Amino acid sequence: MPIPTIEWKDGKIKLVDQTRLPADFRYIYCGDLRSLWQAIKKLKVRGAPAIGIAGALGVLLVSEKSKRKNFKSYKREVLSSIRYLASSRPTARNLFWALERMERALLSNKKRDVADIKTILKKEAFGVIREDKEICRRMAGHGAALVRKRDRILTHCNAGGLATADYGTALGVLFEAKRLKKEITVYVDETRPLLQGARLTSWELKKAGIKTILICDNMAASLMAEGRIDKIFVGADRIARNGDTANKIGTYSLAVLARYHRVPFYVVAPTSTFDLNLTNGKKIPIEKRDKKEVLEFGGKRIAPAGIDAYNPAFDVTPHKLITAIVTEEGVLRPPYNKSIKYDETKRYR
Ligand code: MRU
Repeated sequence: MPIPTIEWKDGKIKLVDQTRLPADFRYIYCGDLRSLWQAIKKLKVRGAPAIGIAGALGVLLVSEKSKRKNFKSYKREVLSSIRYLASSRPTARNLFWALERMERALLSNKKRDVADIKTILKKEAFGVIREDKEICRRMAGHGAALVRKRDRILTHCNAGGLATADYGTALGVLFEAKRLKKEITVYVDETRPLLQGARLTSWELKKAGIKTILICDNMAASLMAEGRIDKIFVGADRIARNGDTANKIGTYSLAVLARYHRVPFYVVAPTSTFDLNLTNGKKIPIEKRDKKEVLEFGGKRIAPAGIDAYNPAFDVTPHKLITAIVTEEGVLRPPYNKSIKYDETKRYR
Protein backbone atom coordinates (compact mmCIF):
# COMPACT_ATOMS: atom_id res chain seq x y z
CA MET A 1 0.00 0.00 0.00
CA PRO A 2 1.47 3.41 -0.92
CA ILE A 3 2.27 5.86 1.85
CA PRO A 4 -0.07 8.88 2.12
CA THR A 5 1.82 11.70 0.40
CA ILE A 6 -0.61 14.41 1.44
CA GLU A 7 -3.59 14.41 3.77
CA TRP A 8 -5.70 16.52 6.12
CA LYS A 9 -4.71 15.95 9.74
CA ASP A 10 -6.16 17.78 12.76
CA GLY A 11 -6.85 20.99 10.85
CA LYS A 12 -3.46 21.03 9.11
CA ILE A 13 -2.03 19.73 5.84
CA LYS A 14 0.32 16.83 6.48
CA LEU A 15 2.75 16.08 3.68
CA VAL A 16 5.93 14.14 2.99
CA ASP A 17 8.81 16.60 2.52
CA GLN A 18 10.01 15.33 -0.86
CA THR A 19 13.11 17.54 -0.88
CA ARG A 20 14.61 15.34 1.87
CA LEU A 21 14.04 11.99 0.18
CA PRO A 22 15.53 9.44 -0.03
CA ALA A 23 17.95 10.18 2.85
CA ASP A 24 15.29 11.32 5.25
CA PHE A 25 11.57 10.45 5.35
CA ARG A 26 9.85 13.23 7.20
CA TYR A 27 6.35 14.69 7.38
CA ILE A 28 5.78 18.42 7.63
CA TYR A 29 2.56 20.12 8.70
CA CYS A 30 1.32 23.27 6.98
CA GLY A 31 -1.07 25.16 9.24
CA ASP A 32 -1.13 28.41 7.25
CA LEU A 33 -1.35 29.38 3.61
CA ARG A 34 2.12 30.90 3.35
CA SER A 35 3.87 27.70 4.48
CA LEU A 36 1.79 25.68 2.00
CA TRP A 37 2.63 28.10 -0.83
CA GLN A 38 6.33 27.74 0.04
CA ALA A 39 6.03 23.94 0.18
CA ILE A 40 4.57 23.92 -3.35
CA LYS A 41 7.11 26.42 -4.70
CA LYS A 42 10.09 24.56 -3.18
CA LEU A 43 8.78 21.16 -4.37
CA LYS A 44 8.29 19.75 -0.87
CA VAL A 45 5.01 18.66 -2.41
CA ARG A 46 5.21 18.19 -6.16
CA GLY A 47 3.77 16.33 -9.15
CA ALA A 48 0.66 17.60 -10.91
CA PRO A 49 -2.11 15.67 -9.07
CA ALA A 50 -0.44 16.17 -5.65
CA ILE A 51 -0.20 19.93 -6.26
CA GLY A 52 -3.91 19.90 -7.13
CA ILE A 53 -4.69 18.19 -3.82
CA ALA A 54 -2.46 20.69 -2.00
CA GLY A 55 -4.43 23.50 -3.64
CA ALA A 56 -7.81 22.07 -2.58
CA LEU A 57 -6.58 21.50 0.99
CA GLY A 58 -5.10 25.03 1.08
CA VAL A 59 -8.52 26.49 0.33
CA LEU A 60 -10.00 24.23 2.99
CA LEU A 61 -7.42 25.52 5.47
CA VAL A 62 -8.53 29.11 4.93
CA SER A 63 -12.20 28.20 4.95
CA GLU A 64 -11.90 26.28 8.23
CA LYS A 65 -9.95 29.06 9.94
CA SER A 66 -12.19 31.85 8.72
CA LYS A 67 -14.01 33.76 11.46
CA ARG A 68 -16.29 35.54 8.96
CA LYS A 69 -19.97 35.01 9.46
CA ASN A 70 -21.27 36.86 6.44
CA PHE A 71 -20.94 35.38 2.95
CA LYS A 72 -19.43 38.43 1.27
CA SER A 73 -16.41 38.70 3.54
CA TYR A 74 -16.00 34.90 3.80
CA LYS A 75 -16.08 34.73 -0.01
CA ARG A 76 -13.46 37.47 -0.28
CA GLU A 77 -11.14 35.57 2.05
CA VAL A 78 -11.55 32.25 0.22
CA LEU A 79 -11.19 33.75 -3.27
CA SER A 80 -8.04 35.58 -2.26
CA SER A 81 -6.55 32.26 -1.02
CA ILE A 82 -7.39 30.72 -4.39
CA ARG A 83 -5.59 33.54 -6.23
CA TYR A 84 -2.60 33.25 -3.93
CA LEU A 85 -2.25 29.48 -4.35
CA ALA A 86 -2.64 29.83 -8.13
CA SER A 87 0.52 31.98 -8.13
CA SER A 88 2.72 29.20 -6.70
CA ARG A 89 3.49 27.19 -9.86
CA PRO A 90 2.10 27.89 -13.35
CA THR A 91 2.34 24.69 -15.41
CA ALA A 92 0.42 21.82 -13.77
CA ARG A 93 -3.19 22.06 -14.90
CA ASN A 94 -4.32 20.01 -11.87
CA LEU A 95 -3.61 22.90 -9.49
CA PHE A 96 -5.96 25.24 -11.37
CA TRP A 97 -8.47 22.44 -11.91
CA ALA A 98 -8.69 21.82 -8.15
CA LEU A 99 -8.84 25.54 -7.30
CA GLU A 100 -11.60 26.09 -9.88
CA ARG A 101 -13.48 23.17 -8.36
CA MET A 102 -13.28 24.75 -4.89
CA GLU A 103 -14.34 28.11 -6.33
CA ARG A 104 -17.38 26.55 -8.02
CA ALA A 105 -18.37 24.83 -4.77
CA LEU A 106 -18.17 28.21 -3.02
CA LEU A 107 -20.01 30.30 -5.59
CA SER A 108 -22.76 27.84 -6.41
CA ASN A 109 -23.78 27.72 -2.72
CA LYS A 110 -23.87 31.43 -1.98
CA LYS A 111 -27.47 31.28 -0.77
CA ARG A 112 -26.49 29.02 2.14
CA ASP A 113 -25.09 29.85 5.59
CA VAL A 114 -21.33 30.21 5.84
CA ALA A 115 -21.25 27.23 8.25
CA ASP A 116 -22.93 25.03 5.62
CA ILE A 117 -20.59 26.24 2.87
CA LYS A 118 -17.63 25.32 5.06
CA THR A 119 -18.94 21.75 5.25
CA ILE A 120 -19.46 21.73 1.49
CA LEU A 121 -15.88 22.91 0.82
CA LYS A 122 -14.56 20.24 3.17
CA LYS A 123 -16.46 17.57 1.27
CA GLU A 124 -15.18 18.95 -2.02
CA ALA A 125 -11.53 18.90 -0.91
CA PHE A 126 -11.83 15.38 0.50
CA GLY A 127 -13.57 14.39 -2.76
CA VAL A 128 -10.52 15.54 -4.74
CA ILE A 129 -8.32 13.18 -2.67
CA ARG A 130 -10.73 10.23 -2.77
CA GLU A 131 -11.24 10.54 -6.54
CA ASP A 132 -7.51 10.84 -7.18
CA LYS A 133 -6.99 7.48 -5.47
CA GLU A 134 -9.68 5.80 -7.58
CA ILE A 135 -8.42 7.44 -10.77
CA CYS A 136 -4.84 6.26 -10.17
CA ARG A 137 -6.06 2.65 -9.92
CA ARG A 138 -8.12 2.94 -13.10
CA MET A 139 -5.23 4.44 -15.09
CA ALA A 140 -2.94 1.71 -13.77
CA GLY A 141 -5.33 -0.96 -15.03
CA HIS A 142 -5.63 0.55 -18.52
CA GLY A 143 -1.89 1.18 -18.77
CA ALA A 144 -0.77 -2.23 -17.53
CA ALA A 145 -2.59 -3.82 -20.46
CA LEU A 146 0.02 -2.14 -22.71
CA VAL A 147 2.91 -3.80 -20.86
CA ARG A 148 4.27 -7.18 -21.97
CA LYS A 149 6.05 -9.75 -19.86
CA ARG A 150 9.73 -8.81 -19.30
CA ASP A 151 9.35 -5.36 -20.93
CA ARG A 152 12.22 -2.96 -20.29
CA ILE A 153 10.64 0.40 -19.61
CA LEU A 154 12.12 3.88 -19.39
CA THR A 155 10.56 6.61 -17.25
CA HIS A 156 11.43 10.24 -16.50
CA CYS A 157 10.97 12.42 -13.42
CA ASN A 158 8.57 11.07 -10.79
CA ALA A 159 5.00 10.20 -11.68
CA GLY A 160 4.48 7.91 -8.72
CA GLY A 161 2.65 7.76 -5.42
CA LEU A 162 4.59 10.82 -4.29
CA ALA A 163 3.09 12.84 -7.15
CA THR A 164 -0.50 11.81 -6.37
CA ALA A 165 -2.60 10.73 -3.40
CA ASP A 166 -2.06 7.06 -4.12
CA TYR A 167 -0.51 4.79 -6.78
CA GLY A 168 0.80 7.39 -9.23
CA THR A 169 0.19 7.83 -12.95
CA ALA A 170 3.07 6.41 -15.04
CA LEU A 171 4.47 4.53 -12.03
CA GLY A 172 0.99 3.27 -11.17
CA VAL A 173 1.08 1.42 -14.49
CA LEU A 174 4.41 -0.14 -13.51
CA PHE A 175 3.20 -1.11 -10.02
CA GLU A 176 0.19 -2.78 -11.60
CA ALA A 177 2.41 -4.59 -14.15
CA LYS A 178 4.49 -5.88 -11.24
CA ARG A 179 1.34 -7.01 -9.42
CA LEU A 180 0.36 -8.90 -12.57
CA LYS A 181 3.79 -10.62 -12.45
CA LYS A 182 5.03 -9.14 -15.73
CA GLU A 183 8.67 -9.14 -14.49
CA ILE A 184 9.51 -5.71 -15.85
CA THR A 185 12.81 -3.84 -15.64
CA VAL A 186 12.60 -0.07 -15.27
CA TYR A 187 15.30 2.33 -16.40
CA VAL A 188 15.01 5.61 -14.50
CA ASP A 189 16.32 8.91 -15.86
CA GLU A 190 17.98 10.77 -12.99
CA THR A 191 16.14 13.95 -14.15
CA ARG A 192 18.44 16.94 -13.78
CA PRO A 193 18.42 19.47 -12.28
CA LEU A 194 16.43 18.35 -9.21
CA LEU A 195 16.83 14.58 -9.57
CA GLN A 196 13.23 13.50 -9.08
CA GLY A 197 14.09 10.27 -10.95
CA ALA A 198 17.21 9.39 -8.95
CA ARG A 199 15.80 10.44 -5.58
CA LEU A 200 12.09 9.69 -5.75
CA THR A 201 11.28 7.26 -8.56
CA SER A 202 14.13 4.86 -7.68
CA TRP A 203 13.02 5.02 -4.04
CA GLU A 204 9.42 4.14 -4.92
CA LEU A 205 10.34 1.37 -7.37
CA LYS A 206 12.79 -0.21 -4.94
CA LYS A 207 10.15 -0.26 -2.23
CA ALA A 208 7.81 -1.99 -4.69
CA GLY A 209 10.44 -4.65 -5.45
CA ILE A 210 10.72 -3.67 -9.14
CA LYS A 211 14.08 -4.20 -10.87
CA THR A 212 15.35 -0.63 -11.25
CA ILE A 213 18.36 0.70 -13.18
CA LEU A 214 19.27 4.36 -12.78
CA ILE A 215 20.77 6.22 -15.75
CA CYS A 216 21.92 9.78 -16.39
CA ASP A 217 19.54 11.66 -18.69
CA ASN A 218 22.09 11.76 -21.51
CA MET A 219 22.31 7.95 -21.66
CA ALA A 220 18.79 7.36 -22.98
CA ALA A 221 19.77 7.64 -26.69
CA SER A 222 22.47 5.02 -26.47
CA LEU A 223 20.22 2.62 -24.55
CA MET A 224 17.56 2.95 -27.24
CA ALA A 225 20.17 2.46 -29.98
CA GLU A 226 21.29 -0.74 -28.23
CA GLY A 227 17.68 -1.99 -28.26
CA ARG A 228 17.45 -2.00 -24.45
CA ILE A 229 14.20 -0.02 -24.16
CA ASP A 230 10.84 -1.55 -25.18
CA LYS A 231 8.52 1.25 -24.02
CA ILE A 232 8.51 4.65 -22.39
CA PHE A 233 5.92 5.73 -19.80
CA VAL A 234 5.83 9.30 -18.46
CA GLY A 235 3.36 11.50 -16.60
CA ALA A 236 2.07 14.93 -17.64
CA ASP A 237 1.53 18.39 -16.18
CA ARG A 238 -0.78 19.81 -18.81
CA ILE A 239 -2.25 18.39 -22.02
CA ALA A 240 -3.67 20.69 -24.69
CA ARG A 241 -6.75 19.91 -26.78
CA ASN A 242 -4.63 18.49 -29.64
CA GLY A 243 -2.67 16.15 -27.31
CA ASP A 244 0.50 18.28 -27.01
CA THR A 245 1.83 17.44 -23.56
CA ALA A 246 3.88 19.43 -21.05
CA ASN A 247 5.93 17.34 -18.66
CA LYS A 248 9.26 17.56 -16.85
CA ILE A 249 12.06 19.08 -18.92
CA GLY A 250 13.73 16.31 -20.89
CA THR A 251 10.51 14.49 -21.78
CA TYR A 252 10.44 16.02 -25.28
CA SER A 253 13.94 14.78 -26.11
CA LEU A 254 12.92 11.26 -25.02
CA ALA A 255 9.91 11.40 -27.34
CA VAL A 256 12.08 12.48 -30.29
CA LEU A 257 14.52 9.66 -29.55
CA ALA A 258 11.67 7.19 -29.16
CA ARG A 259 10.30 8.05 -32.60
CA TYR A 260 13.73 7.65 -34.23
CA HIS A 261 14.26 4.28 -32.56
CA ARG A 262 10.63 3.12 -32.99
CA VAL A 263 10.00 2.82 -29.24
CA PRO A 264 6.34 3.37 -28.17
CA PHE A 265 5.99 6.54 -26.10
CA TYR A 266 3.08 6.62 -23.62
CA VAL A 267 1.77 9.48 -21.50
CA VAL A 268 -0.28 8.57 -18.41
CA ALA A 269 -2.45 11.32 -16.92
CA PRO A 270 -5.88 11.87 -15.36
CA THR A 271 -8.39 13.94 -17.32
CA SER A 272 -7.87 16.72 -14.74
CA THR A 273 -4.53 17.32 -16.47
CA PHE A 274 -6.25 18.23 -19.78
CA ASP A 275 -6.59 21.91 -20.56
CA LEU A 276 -9.23 22.06 -23.25
CA ASN A 277 -9.08 25.85 -23.38
CA LEU A 278 -5.73 25.49 -25.11
CA THR A 279 -5.84 24.40 -28.72
CA ASN A 280 -2.17 23.42 -28.71
CA GLY A 281 0.89 23.14 -26.50
CA LYS A 282 2.46 26.44 -27.57
CA LYS A 283 0.12 28.17 -25.16
CA ILE A 284 1.08 26.10 -22.09
CA PRO A 285 2.78 28.34 -19.50
CA ILE A 286 6.22 26.94 -18.74
CA GLU A 287 7.65 27.55 -15.29
CA LYS A 288 11.14 29.07 -15.22
CA ARG A 289 12.91 28.22 -11.99
CA ASP A 290 15.85 29.65 -10.08
CA LYS A 291 19.10 29.46 -12.07
CA LYS A 292 20.83 28.20 -8.94
CA GLU A 293 19.20 24.81 -9.54
CA VAL A 294 21.37 24.48 -12.67
CA LEU A 295 24.46 26.31 -11.44
CA GLU A 296 24.63 24.29 -8.22
CA PHE A 297 24.49 20.62 -7.34
CA GLY A 298 23.42 19.60 -3.85
CA GLY A 299 23.81 23.22 -2.73
CA LYS A 300 27.42 23.41 -4.05
CA ARG A 301 28.36 25.65 -6.97
CA ILE A 302 29.52 23.63 -10.00
CA ALA A 303 29.88 26.38 -12.64
CA PRO A 304 32.48 29.14 -12.56
CA ALA A 305 31.39 32.49 -11.15
CA GLY A 306 29.85 34.79 -13.76
CA ILE A 307 28.28 31.99 -15.84
CA ASP A 308 24.60 32.46 -16.68
CA ALA A 309 22.05 29.61 -16.76
CA TYR A 310 18.56 28.90 -18.08
CA ASN A 311 16.13 26.71 -16.17
CA PRO A 312 12.76 25.88 -17.73
CA ALA A 313 11.13 23.21 -15.54
CA PHE A 314 8.99 21.66 -18.30
CA ASP A 315 8.94 21.11 -22.03
CA VAL A 316 6.16 20.32 -24.47
CA THR A 317 6.07 17.07 -26.43
CA PRO A 318 4.19 17.48 -29.72
CA HIS A 319 1.19 15.15 -30.01
CA LYS A 320 2.64 13.56 -33.15
CA LEU A 321 5.31 11.87 -31.04
CA ILE A 322 2.88 10.33 -28.53
CA THR A 323 1.78 6.74 -29.20
CA ALA A 324 -1.15 6.92 -26.75
CA ILE A 325 -2.42 8.80 -23.71
CA VAL A 326 -3.62 6.61 -20.85
CA THR A 327 -6.39 8.21 -18.77
CA GLU A 328 -8.85 6.89 -16.19
CA GLU A 329 -11.43 6.78 -19.01
CA GLY A 330 -9.27 4.50 -21.16
CA VAL A 331 -6.44 4.67 -23.68
CA LEU A 332 -6.66 7.58 -26.14
CA ARG A 333 -5.05 7.10 -29.56
CA PRO A 334 -4.31 9.59 -32.34
CA PRO A 335 -5.83 11.61 -33.84
CA TYR A 336 -6.16 13.25 -30.42
CA ASN A 337 -8.37 16.07 -31.67
CA LYS A 338 -10.98 13.30 -32.14
CA SER A 339 -10.18 11.00 -29.17
CA ILE A 340 -9.94 13.87 -26.65
CA LYS A 341 -13.60 14.66 -26.19
CA TYR A 342 -14.41 18.34 -26.12
CA ASP A 343 -17.64 20.16 -25.46
CA GLU A 344 -18.73 23.70 -24.74
CA THR A 345 -18.09 23.30 -21.00
CA LYS A 346 -14.41 22.98 -21.99
CA ARG A 347 -13.99 20.15 -19.56
CA TYR A 348 -12.95 16.68 -20.55
CA ARG A 349 -15.93 14.48 -21.24
O1 MRU B 1 8.56 19.77 -11.01
P1 MRU B 1 7.79 18.54 -10.63
O2 MRU B 1 8.62 17.56 -9.87
O3 MRU B 1 6.50 18.88 -9.93
O4 MRU B 1 7.42 17.87 -12.02
C1 MRU B 1 6.60 16.74 -12.01
C2 MRU B 1 6.44 16.11 -13.34
O5 MRU B 1 6.88 16.61 -14.34
C3 MRU B 1 5.62 14.85 -13.37
O6 MRU B 1 6.05 14.02 -14.40
C4 MRU B 1 4.14 15.22 -13.62
O7 MRU B 1 3.72 16.16 -12.69
C5 MRU B 1 3.27 14.06 -13.56
S1 MRU B 1 3.05 13.50 -11.91
C6 MRU B 1 1.93 12.25 -11.84
